[in-house]
Amino acid sequence: MCGIIGYIGKKNVVPILIEGLKKLEYRGYDSAGIAVVDDGPILRRRAKGKISVLEDVLKQDEVKGNYGIGHTRWATHGRPSEENAHPHQDCTGDIVIVHNGIIEKYMDLKTQLSFEGHKFQTETDTEVIAHLIEKYFQENLEEAVRQAMEHLEGEFAVAVISSRDRDKIVLVKQGPPVIVGLGENEYFISSDVNPLLLYTKDVVFLNDGEMAVIEREGVTYSDFSGKLLKKKIDHINWNPLMIEKSGFKHFMLKEIFEQPRVIRDTLKGRISMDKGKVLLGEIGLPPERIKSIRRVVILACGTSFNASLVGKYFIEEIAGIPVDVEYASEYRYRNFILDKNSLVVAVSQSGETADTLAALRALKVKKPLTLAVCNVESSSIARETAGLLMTHAGPEIGVAATKTFSAQMTALMLLALYLGQINESMDKDTGLSYIKELQRIPTKIESILSQTEGLEKLAKKFISASHFLYLGRWANYPIALEGALKLKEISYIHAEGYPSGEMKHGPIALIDDNMPTMAIAPKDRIYEKIMSNISEIKARSGYVIAVAYEDDKEIEAKVDAVIRIPAILPLLSPFLTTVPLQLFAYYIAAARGADVDQPRNLAKSVTVE
Ligand code: G6P
Repeated sequence: MCGIIGYIGKKNVVPILIEGLKKLEYRGYDSAGIAVVDDGPILRRRAKGKISVLEDVLKQDEVKGNYGIGHTRWATHGRPSEENAHPHQDCTGDIVIVHNGIIEKYMDLKTQLSFEGHKFQTETDTEVIAHLIEKYFQENLEEAVRQAMEHLEGEFAVAVISSRDRDKIVLVKQGPPVIVGLGENEYFISSDVNPLLLYTKDVVFLNDGEMAVIEREGVTYSDFSGKLLKKKIDHINWNPLMIEKSGFKHFMLKEIFEQPRVIRDTLKGRISMDKGKVLLGEIGLPPERIKSIRRVVILACGTSFNASLVGKYFIEEIAGIPVDVEYASEYRYRNFILDKNSLVVAVSQSGETADTLAALRALKVKKPLTLAVCNVESSSIARETAGLLMTHAGPEIGVAATKTFSAQMTALMLLALYLGQINESMDKDTGLSYIKELQRIPTKIESILSQTEGLEKLAKKFISASHFLYLGRWANYPIALEGALKLKEISYIHAEGYPSGEMKHGPIALIDDNMPTMAIAPKDRIYEKIMSNISEIKARSGYVIAVAYEDDKEIEAKVDAVIRIPAILPLLSPFLTTVPLQLFAYYIAAARGADVDQPRNLAKSVTVE
């Protein structure tokens, strides 16, 4: 949520900042700006809208320099406008900052600083930081920043430059992620690794309460009290090609098509066909603690929540352990009923979602075993749990999550099998049949992806729809939620996901010929029940599209359209049913001309509450 970038070196900083901001644009895109320094004063250029608008501004009103900072915004305080766009400055324009996060009680600080004579120009919480630094500035920028930090509450990653203490960027972290990239005689700062991949793979992750002073000669790390720190250099093994569209029209489409690879990678090295076992020693939780687990609580938000719900069906079915899946934003304020026999699993693509992180931190007083299912190894959530189960999806750029959803389901299935193995609730043959089927999933998805024309044609019939109902049952109830979420997010068509059996308790009142229904109907143990639900809709003139197995011939006569998927062990059907629903949402949104990769008002990584 909001992206920060910065560079100091010998090159022209402007293209580096702009390219970096484009890579961070998924974090927020309602306005953007840069501040650069050459020989004279700090020069700022800002624009409302996407980075492309900022590029136009820069064409008209060029700047250059060899260090600077930039920002792409997702508004929290103050509407999206040029005036509220970062970088923000103090009264003189000598101190300029970019910020990701939220400053709590900023109005108190603003009132106090205004009383002391500071002149505010924006509606943002961020601007108080610039004025606070101005207040404490004498000669040394990092000293002023350090003193300002003492008065700030909330969540912030802030980068600061000053024309009164030149050739340095001061960076602080108390919440949102921020990274220093180490190049050859040049340094970078960024909210995530994506913008750095073109230049360096050596990075340093700042922890909360830490500060970096980045100069041409090197980087000095310290805590907020000024104590010097020695930081570990991490090596990133992602490559720049991973964040290109590779010929696809949108990142989302590319990422949907990557799912077979993602599932293969997430399974790789974690399955032994000889032993018929899942090998998850890598997660770092002692088997004797795992054996004592009596309850699992999964915390997540958004698409990760829906993947976690699928995980609930996997774990309960295979390992026989009760699972609660909780919205982290709700759970963090609840009375945590947990003990040392509880396993808390935080599922998060980014590993930085503020609610998930806060819930995790708050519940630790109960000392449960904690595990992260995460796509970013160096993220806060991955670092703050006892165990880590990585999803190997690679970077996901489309704001609407697709491949990471499949990777999370894969990881949760592996976890279910591992728990079942350790607590001996699953016999070897059952385990083996799941393992074999898991390995066949990528090929089955490839077969869905090899024939998408029919699906695209069908989707295009609905470009003017205003509403959609998604129904699923048992392990596919979460897929109904996820299908509806995808459609809402990228096409802005209102959609509701519902458990089919609940339809008669409310949503059935909505059914008429303007409310199409997507019914997920694999041949599982409750297939007949879903068919009854479909009949109830048809009896009320509803249009029904069914997602059904290729060999299900009888369904054709009962619905208006069928989307086919290969047959699969029913518990694993969510891996297949989800793919056409992602594509369906994609084709509708693309045909409506929507901004598929960067839907309005959303951000990929939500680092504020
Ligand atoms: C945002 C994103 C979603 C994502 C959710 C949770 O809302 O737009 O795609 O599912 O955050 O993010 P996480 O990184 O914790 O999985």
